[in-house]
Amino acid sequence: MDKAVLLSMFISFATSNDLLKFDAHSPNLSVQRQQDVKSEWPPKFCNGIDCPMYTVLSKGKGYEERLYNASMWVSTRLKGVDFEAASRPMFMKLFKYISGNNEKKQKIAMTAPVKTRIIPGQGPACESDFIMSFFVSPSVGQPPAPADASVTLDHVKPTTIYVSQFGGYLTKFDQWREEAVKLGAALDKNGLKYSQDHFFLAGYDAPFRLFNRHNEVWFLKA
Ligand SMILES: *[C@@H]1O[C@H](CO)[C@@H](O)[C@H](O)[C@H]1NC(C)=O
Ligand SMILES: *[C@@H]1O[C@H](CO)[C@@H](O)[C@H](O)[C@H]1NC(C)=O
Repeated sequence: MDKAVLLSMFISFATSNDLLKFDAHSPNLSVQRQQDVKSEWPPKFCNGIDCPMYTVLSKGKGYEERLYNASMWVSTRLKGVDFEAASRPMFMKLFKYISGNNEKKQKIAMTAPVKTRIIPGQGPACESDFIMSFFVSPSVGQPPAPADASVTLDHVKPTTIYVSQFGGYLTKFDQWREEAVKLGAALDKNGLKYSQDHFFLAGYDAPFRLFNRHNEVWFLKA
């Protein structure tokens, strides 16, 4: 990979732009990235902690198509009206699991991203369906069974998703929703088919990291 490409990638991550501008200047990036996906693993936005492995299949204006390897996740589900209110208890349950609230009292390293699947409620006062998950690194081996019955281990098969990437410190669900709408529009424009009844948020940074944050929204490829 040449220096200009590396520098552009660094800038695009460092300024946390989505990759739109970059695409305009480097139409061949997707080919390049596909070839270099191994050498640039793990992505900078994983911040040196384990994150699930993927291959970039294609890239277009406002989206990236990724094939994720099979992966293990620890998850919990909650229904509620308010994403902000639902997030805290879900996060705490998963955090307790990795802190030793499991059958082996085993501590497990934090990973990225924190992924949340959302089936939006129909209407402003309707309950949405949330599933929050932490990725379980393959280095854990066989993960211990959760002690909390509302926490589950999920084996996810290889999955192809469409992703958009953006920076900033998102505090409101509407900010995530806006990004999902933008991604949907980019996919529609390209005639790409995706599951429309739910989407995923993926956050890569701890709350105390204020700058250079990396966020994603995902749709499953249909
Ligand atoms: C990518 O680069 C090759 C030459 O290396 C060129 O022939 C091709 O048209 C480029 N593809 C796009 C999509 O611009
Ligand atoms: C992940 O999947 C890719 C392609 O699907 C494969 O080449 C690679 O070996 C896999 N990596 C791991 C660690 O399983």
